[in-house]
This record gives sequence, C-alpha cells and structure tokens, in this order.
Amino acid sequence: MKFYIVFFTLFVSCRLHAQRSATLSIDLQKKEATVPATLHGIFFEEISHAGDGGLYAELIQNRGFEESRIPPGTTLKDGFIVPAERPHYMMQPKASDWKMPWTLKNDWPAWSAETNGTAEMQLQITKEFPLTDASPNALRVKIKKRNATDKTSLINDGYWGIKAEKNETYLLSFYARSQNLYKGSITVSLRSPEGELLGKYRFPVLKQQGWQQYKCEIKATGSHDKAKFVMDFDKEGELLIDFVSLFPAHTFKNRVNGLRKDLARLIADLKPSFIRWPGGCFVEGITIENAADWKKTIGPLEQRPGTYSPWGYWSSDGFGYHEYLQFCEDINADALFVFNVGVSCEYRSGTFAPDDSIQPYIQNALDAIEYAIGPANTGWGKKRAANGHAQPFPLKYIEIGNEQHGPLYAKRYNVFFDAIKKKYPQLRIMASMGIGDVNRRTLDSMKRVDLADEHAYKPANWSYVNYDHFDKYKRGDWEMYVGEYATNAGVGSGNMQAALNDAVYIMSMERNADLVKMSSYAPLLVNVNDVDWPVNLINFDASKSFGRISYYAIRMMQDNKATVNIASNLSIEEPKNKTALFSGSIGLATWDTRSAYKDIKITSNGKTVYESDLINRRDDWGLIRGEWKWEDSALYQSAMGEQRFAVLKNHSFDTYTIHLKARKTDGYNAFIVPFAVKDTNTFMRVHIGSWLNANVTIENVVNGFDVSDLVRQQKLPFKIESGKWYDIRIEVGLDKVDVFLEGQHIIHYEEPKKLFAIAGLDEAKNEVVIKLVNGYNEAANINFLIQDFTTRAALGEWITLTAPSLTDENSFSNPARFVPSTRNITLKSADLRFSLAPRSINVIRIKKAGSP
Ligand code: AHR
Repeated sequence: MKFYIVFFTLFVSCRLHAQRSATLSIDLQKKEATVPATLHGIFFEEISHAGDGGLYAELIQNRGFEESRIPPGTTLKDGFIVPAERPHYMMQPKASDWKMPWTLKNDWPAWSAETNGTAEMQLQITKEFPLTDASPNALRVKIKKRNATDKTSLINDGYWGIKAEKNETYLLSFYARSQNLYKGSITVSLRSPEGELLGKYRFPVLKQQGWQQYKCEIKATGSHDKAKFVMDFDKEGELLIDFVSLFPAHTFKNRVNGLRKDLARLIADLKPSFIRWPGGCFVEGITIENAADWKKTIGPLEQRPGTYSPWGYWSSDGFGYHEYLQFCEDINADALFVFNVGVSCEYRSGTFAPDDSIQPYIQNALDAIEYAIGPANTGWGKKRAANGHAQPFPLKYIEIGNEQHGPLYAKRYNVFFDAIKKKYPQLRIMASMGIGDVNRRTLDSMKRVDLADEHAYKPANWSYVNYDHFDKYKRGDWEMYVGEYATNAGVGSGNMQAALNDAVYIMSMERNADLVKMSSYAPLLVNVNDVDWPVNLINFDASKSFGRISYYAIRMMQDNKATVNIASNLSIEEPKNKTALFSGSIGLATWDTRSAYKDIKITSNGKTVYESDLINRRDDWGLIRGEWKWEDSALYQSAMGEQRFAVLKNHSFDTYTIHLKARKTDGYNAFIVPFAVKDTNTFMRVHIGSWLNANVTIENVVNGFDVSDLVRQQKLPFKIESGKWYDIRIEVGLDKVDVFLEGQHIIHYEEPKKLFAIAGLDEAKNEVVIKLVNGYNEAANINFLIQDFTTRAALGEWITLTAPSLTDENSFSNPARFVPSTRNITLKSADLRFSLAPRSINVIRIKKAGSP
C-alpha cells in the first residue's frame, strides 16, 4: 500500500524538550527472585514461509506438485475454500461461516514452461501414477513440434528466487517416468532470470520403465540472488516428473535435508533455551483435518503429505518433527512440542473431534513424546533410532493445544494433562490461554497447571503503561510462559520504537522472574515476499536476511540476563519546564460510519483561537479521504469505509480545548476527532464509538493507516444514537488528554513515563547487571546509588542499542545498522552518573569487588 503525506502548513513547532534526571538506587544485599536460565526461547511456526522458502533449505517450491490440492475437509466454491458445515467448537451446535480465498493462478504453482521456435509444451497435473500415497500428484510434460535447436524448458522459480552462489555445490534429485514416450536427455541447470548459465548437469539417457530417481550435483559457476532452476528437454515426447528437490550442499551443521545457514545462525545466536514448535494456528489447522500431525512429518520426504497451513499455503513438512528435535539439539535448546487437542482454529472453521473421540489425539501426543525421549527399544523410540538418532532428544515441555481457552477446553486439557503426567512426570506442561492475558475462566476449570501460556501482541507504548502487568498476578498456583509476545501495532513493520517497547516488556518479565519462567517472541521469521503478520523478528528473502532492532534487543537481554534480581528503585524527576507534547492541528474523521461535524471551536488559555465557519470559510479544511459534503453549517462525511479524514489546514495549537458537535447518520462506529496532527500521516485521535459503537479510546496513527490504542478501551456510558447531535469536548494539556461527551468525562490519557531500570547479579561472573531503557527523545541523566558498593575503581561494560529516530529499522541493504555497541568503563567512585542516549536500550555491567 502506498501512503501519501499531505503537508499543509500546520505550523507545528519543533522544540527541544527538557532532559530528565533520575536516581537509581540499588541494594546489593537484597536479593529477589532467581532469574531462570529458561527465560528466553523461540517460537517457530510455518507462517509467512518461515520454514518452506525460509529456514528449511529446500530451494524448489512445490517440489511434489501437491500445492494445488484443495485442503482436506474443504471444497472449492466460487474462489473460496469452504469447510464442510459442522459445529464450531465455541459456538456449538452452530457452524461458523468462515471461508478462505483460494488464490492459485494455475495447478502447478512456481513451475512454468518456456519454449521458442515452433516448439510447444503442455503441462498437466495427473494422479494417474502416484509416486507415493502422500505425493499422488505428478506433472505430465508433453513436448511437441520441436525443432532441433528449439528451447523446451521446465522452470521452477524457487521461493521468489533461488540463491546461486559461485563454487557452492547443489544437490539435485527428482523422479521421472518416461515409459518409452520420451527418449531424449534432460539437462538441469541454474540460470539467472536473463538466462545466463550458472551451473548445469546433463542426464543423457533416461531409464524407460516405471518411476526412476535421478540425482546429481550442480556446481555453481556464477552467483545470482534470484536464480531459477531449469530442466531442458532435447526431444519431443511425454514424461511424468515428480519430487524435484534441490539443496545447497552446505546447510547448518551440514545436515542432510538441513536448514539454511544464515537463518539458523541468526536463531542460534539468540541462544534460545527452548524452541516451541510447530505453532501457533498451524497446530490447530483451518479444519480439524488440516491440523498438524507430527506422525506425517517424519520418515522419507516423499511419504510426507504436508499440512495446509492456516496462513494460506501448503507446508511440505520437510522441516518435520525429527528435524526440529535435531535442530534443538544442534543449538543446545530444549524442545517444547505443541500438539492439537482435537480442535481446529476457532478463528477459522473451529471444527473439532467430539469429547468421546479424543483418545487418538491423546495417544498421538504420547507417541510424540516416546519418539523424542523413549528408549530406543520402545515402539516409537525404535523409529527415532531408525531415523538416525538412537539417543533421546532434549524434549522437556509439552503444550496442550494452541490458543484454546474456556471451560470446554479446560475439561479436555485435564484429560491430556493426566495421561501425559502419568507416563512422563518429568515433563512440564503448558496450558493454553487463548489470545491475550491469562484467562481466569479457563484456569478455574483446570485441575493443575504447570505453566500458563499468555500471548501478548501489544501496541506501541503498551509496555510503558503496563510495566506492572505481571506484578498483578497472584503467585503460587502456576508459573507463566509468555509463548508469543511482540510490540506489533503503531510500529510499521517493526522499528526502534518497537524495540524499546519489547525491551521494557522483557524487563517487566525479568523483574517478575518468580512468576514468568519462559518467553518467546512471535513470529520469528518472515519471507518478505509473503507477509502474513504485521511485525516479525527476522526478515529474509531468497538470499539475504537481517534481524530487526528488536532481535538485537532480545539478544542483549539474553546475553546479559542476571542470575538473580536485586532490589532497585528508579525515581524520576520530571523536568521543571514541561513542553507541549500534543501540539499540532486537529481533524475530523470516521471509520465505516457516516457522520457530520459542526460548530468547531478551539480555545486556549480561555481565548478562542479558532472558530469554524463551514459556510464561508470552507477552505480552512483539507479533505484527505472520504466523501465530504458541506451541508449548511456542517461538514458531512457521507461514505462508508476506513480512515475517512479531513484536516484543519494552516493551524497548530500547543495546549488547547476542542469543542464541537457531532451527529451520526448510520454505520458501525460513531465519531473520530484527530488532534496533535503533525501531518496527514501522523496524529492522535479520539475515537468515540469504537468497537461497533460500544467503546471510546484514544489512538495513535503513524504511516497514515497504522493505528494503535494508547489507552485501554473504555465502555461508553451510552450508545451513540443516529440522527442526534452530541457535544464533544477534548482538553489537550501539556501531556494529558481528557475527553467529555455531553459534559460527561469518558476517557483520560496521560503520556507514560519512558524511563525504566532493573538490576541483578550475574553470580557466575560476580557482576552487577543493570538494564535501562530510555524511551524519551531526549537524553536522560541517571545517578546510581549502589548500597555497599566499593569505592575502589571498578571496571565495567556499557552496552547500548539506539537509533536516531523511533521509526529507524535495519534493512536488507544495511542489516547491521542498529546493533548494540559496547564500551569499557572505569568507575572511580560509588557516585556513578550516566547519560543515557535518547531512545536507547542499555546494559551496564560492573565487576563487583573481588571479581577476577
Ligand atoms: O504468531 C502468529 C499467530 O498469533 C499464531 O499463529 C497464533 O498462535 C497467534 O494468534
């Protein structure tokens, strides 16, 4: 989507804001919670081609020609895949009307034929001679009217290109069935999109009977970031092709059927203590038939049928259960396996196996555990050994379903929990809690919970406002795993602001280490050619990758995790001369609603500084989006749709009160009043009647359309009626906003504090570890008061991660632009002062007296 910023003269004043000072008191003698080694792990899900076309090093997309299969449990109707009508788990006995667009352009995605001269090539998917039950489709290739020099090529685009690297060897294998119908050769090659040869191999003669497998090595003679894989035929005829696979010889740890080196390295560098796999919604499936099943992901690749991911594409499951467990071992992480409890994703079809048919699901989970940790003489342990790993894998955690919640699920959870604990008491078991905070109704129906899995996707600033989120949880009944967290609204596709919030979020977990034992950011990986989720940690395409600033923030927090917290207190002195934070112009807006506005007046310090005249001075208003009409003395937005917006041009106010009248005609919500408008892409706004005319909120808008709540939504005291004029008053102070509807106060916002600190000890190194975030746009001066700190010179390290603006981010062209930098420091007395850079994440490590 393209955004256009309209720069009216808004007279926005640019002032330097005053710096803050703070005192951080630390009491070295007062130890608090032990910080577990398990605090940081990772979460892998097949979303945005994280695995296929990502971490899994296979280079051929749609290698088995199975990607045009309609997912089981659905039928294709009018361009949608539609689940069979069955009850929805949460809406029983009703079915959901969910369906999903089916967007394939042809039956052989990622493949194409290319000819010249008189030659013709016909492609067709056939099930006539299935290679295996799991890979029933094959591609029939017919070559006709070919002259000796004509080109007849079958091409695979890879996953938006194939990385060809000079001198790397590529391992190719494929199956062909020619049955005396094709008697030519096949030349396989890597080529640039312009046709330049980057390496090839020729199979001169094909065996003629039945399916035959062909293998070769292609040594790359050149490099290209977006190469293609090509099969050239030199005769007319007809043959079937199936299961074309191409891997670089060098994968992470050089494993066969292995992982892409750069991505696996980025993950390993996070030093995750565990890996949660395989999802996410992927575990649940769009229908119960599509739910992930680990048993279909082990053994020969040709015998893995794949899983249709809820994110809209088939997973080959080449990065299957065994490969996942191997990866855990390779990077010294424990395994956290999530399985389906017989319920599909409730945001999709929600179809499920009834309570009296869940025994196979329980058995499947027990078998998965046996495969991972059972001795090699058990049924599934033997299969693991046969797959090349006699010793058990490091499986330590089990999660019973993803994002299920409510008493119905809890009942099911109890059955799974008992069955697993009975056989494997050493495993720690996670209970899912839906999307959002820990769910009381779910917990109340659970007999026992080891760890509750809270999912926390939060908007910008949320972590600042809710730094005490975990402080409020009751202790003792269960521990907490934050299985998915990210600051992912109001931060574009991720930026410095997200990293600051993520760092504060992590600090809020670390200081609550008595409760929060584990966490994992989500999603981990995104192929930028298929983005299913707004903000992701590691971005990549076919050849390049980079960690976002949040990635480095997490790494910094993990590398500098204390072993035990120590008591600390940060007291912030507000600057004496506060400046106006919400200066700018104002606007009028709607969202899926038709509304009119009139009698707009702005007062400041008791004086009227603007008064609308919507008959004679219409030019005051810039009509940015929507169908705005002048109706007598009102300005009426008459079109449905999102983000309808008009702005008051050529004005800017510092502290001001907006008075206006608003009337809704029809639509879902009610009134939106932008303020602090810096430009037409950057502003705040009061939304009265958000959530279908139920709530009021104050929102932040960046990049024109990226909207995030600044405060928790409040219930409106009454619904807005159509046809009635309402009085709205918005008092915009230096750093506070208060909103009144019909004279009644309905919401308050206050700019949160943006300075945070925690302290701990790294007992192994005998160092004090202090983490500080300065989220302000100005430097902050911190004075440390460390009780019992030796006055002898102490050595230390100061690690800083910062960027010139909140919207800065790493990129493909500059992947390490914003990474932590470390400087050594010498501290001469106990009176320590630090000036924290604006927008910075800091770790200060100080060697205690007696340290080596
Ligand atoms: O991380 C993306 C999705 O967010 C996961 O699949 C799901 O568990 C959550 O809602």
